[in-house]
Amino acid sequence: MNSPVTFSVMTPVDSGEVSASSLDKSLEGRDGAVKRIGSVATPRFDESRTREEFRVIKGHVMSRIANADGHRREPRNVLITSASPREGKTTITLGLAMSFMFDRDARVVLIDADMRSPDLSRRMGLEGEAGLLDYLEDDQMGWNDVVYPTSVRGVFAVPSGSPRIYAPELIAGPRMKFLLETLRQGIGRNGIIMMDSGSVLSCSETISLATHAGQILFVAAKGQTKRSDIDEGLGRLHRQAGPIDESRVSMVFNKSGRSQSPVRYSRRG
Ligand SMILES: Nc1ncnc2c1ncn2[C@@H]1O[C@H](COP(=O)(O)OP(=O)(O)OP(=O)(O)O)[C@@H](O)[C@H]1O
Ligand SMILES: [Mg+2]
Repeated sequence: MNSPVTFSVMTPVDSGEVSASSLDKSLEGRDGAVKRIGSVATPRFDESRTREEFRVIKGHVMSRIANADGHRREPRNVLITSASPREGKTTITLGLAMSFMFDRDARVVLIDADMRSPDLSRRMGLEGEAGLLDYLEDDQMGWNDVVYPTSVRGVFAVPSGSPRIYAPELIAGPRMKFLLETLRQGIGRNGIIMMDSGSVLSCSETISLATHAGQILFVAAKGQTKRSDIDEGLGRLHRQAGPIDESRVSMVFNKSGRSQSPVRYSRRG
């Protein structure tokens, strides 16, 4: 792969929970009870700069959707992954979700597809709720049973659901594809589905998820990941869920420290 578009997220992002908004409070669960509402974390430090960084990434992701040529994989399915754990996948997913706060017509679905570390569900306050794995296993469940409104209007969440040792097989199965197709009908032409996944080198299901993704945000934390691991992660995606080229993958360099400009946006190579 030659020259992927690269982004930097420099500023610390910390969680402060947003209280429930007016969004779809009446969305009901299976038993008729009102569903919990997921919280989307907000940045606390250097807020305007952080917002701007995520806005730039969002603009890039949305432009790929707008300019899709119809022949490639579905660009509205966006996978957020990394080579190794703890590089910032969940933080980037939440930051991007938050950046839709001011988009009046946004339709975004966040899927917690990281089965080993379902941190997105926890950080949104949706741990323990019926979610992805429950849906994948139970043919009787509908998408509506596992999609929750969040504190950001237009942003919805699918928590990971109850853990199962055969989670990778469920994710590789046909019902995952079906769920994504169903959700796409709900989000419309410019909506997006973001899948927060485990890291490529340690989670086999990430490859299955990548086969559905028209866009991949590959997060690399500065000073944390070896270049050889990034290459190995991208190589594995390319071999098993490829092709991976610069039209499909974008690098997000996380925790990259302070610099003169708020956002660095460049083409490498
Ligand atoms: N830009 C950032 N600035 C400061 N801290 C960050 C930043 N991004 C992530 N972190 C911190 O780094 C840690 C790992 O981040 P996060 O949980 O988002 O990574 P992850 O890749 O999703 O991890 P996992 O592999 O466990 O799912 C967290 O403590 C998070 O708060
Ligand atoms: Mg995570």
